[in-house]
Amino acid sequence: MFGKKKPVEKIDKEQLELIETAQRRIKQKKRLYYHFVIFLIGALFLILLNTVIGIGEQTKIWGLDWFVFAILAWLFLFVFHLFNVFITHKFMGKSWEEAQLSKLVAKQKERISKLQAEVEKTHPLESTALTEKKTKVHKNLTLIAAAGENDTIGKDNQLIWHLSDDLKRFKTLTSSHCIIMGRKTFESFGKPLPNRTHIVITRQQKYQVPPGVIVVHNIEDALDAAKNDPQPFIIGGGEIYRQAMPYADKIELTRVHERFDGDAFFPKIDPSVWMETENISHQKDGNHKYSFSFVTYQRR
Ligand SMILES: NC(=O)c1ccc[n+]([C@@H]2O[C@H](COP(=O)([O-])OP(=O)(O)OC[C@H]3O[C@@H](n4cnc5c(N)ncnc54)[C@H](OP(=O)(O)O)[C@@H]3O)[C@@H](O)[C@H]2O)c1
Repeated sequence: MFGKKKPVEKIDKEQLELIETAQRRIKQKKRLYYHFVIFLIGALFLILLNTVIGIGEQTKIWGLDWFVFAILAWLFLFVFHLFNVFITHKFMGKSWEEAQLSKLVAKQKERISKLQAEVEKTHPLESTALTEKKTKVHKNLTLIAAAGENDTIGKDNQLIWHLSDDLKRFKTLTSSHCIIMGRKTFESFGKPLPNRTHIVITRQQKYQVPPGVIVVHNIEDALDAAKNDPQPFIIGGGEIYRQAMPYADKIELTRVHERFDGDAFFPKIDPSVWMETENISHQKDGNHKYSFSFVTYQRR
């Protein structure tokens, strides 16, 4: 019996403005049309006034009847009106069109950023892939890390495990190269590692470091500082791995086969972006409390 209420269509401000301007435009054109009709009737009336009724029959200007000049003057006014409608007040005005265009662009940008935020929330891996596409990948830039099964890499600014073969491998791979790291990782060493160029990323403008250590304030500057090294490494920690991943084209990951409590993590490795190219497993032994694997990933 009580049917559903019809939803009231909402017209937003821009649509209303568009309708009002269109209505004004129709009125302008209508007025021009009426002007044209009145002009035709008026001109005929002036001709009749002169030729039939005989008003001003004797009045001539340069040998021409006065109504010719009257009609020409009116015609001039009509042409001015026509010009005004079609040229000066071109369809809705240029500035109006430009304003509409920039509003439209702003709306589209807002929609895109909303969609991006949604994708980041619901599909974090895909969104990383999207960001990676936007960033310039650096050839041979390698992320080197050791992470537990749950991606833990550290706790209280320290490593969680001691695996001597992993440390040896780290030393072999990184020696004589640039190693890029976050300020916290740098501080976790106590002193710089021998035979490597340290590039430390910090937001602190006056961060003090021992001689030879390079301080930069963002990833791009770190990569720039390492540009003469054919094989620079990103050595952590969690914040820096996350930000540098889109630039890297290789990951050397030591996967420790255990879950650990921690407060720093390696970012998720998206299999649609990264391909496993090598996997060497290492069992537990007297020197190694946990089993682990050296896994190499190459960007697809
Ligand atoms: N298992 C592994 O392979 C491995 C490797 C390395 C480290 N770790 C562990 O990871 C933990 C440290 O990682 P973390 O994530 O806490 O810290 P981190 O990444 O080492 O350093 C974070 C710091 O880097 C600076 N930073 C980050 N992004 C920046 C940016 N965009 N611009 C400028 N500066 C920026 C900031 O320094 P300021 O605060 O000075 O501005 C920030 O506090 C430790 O537990 C460490 O032992 C593990």
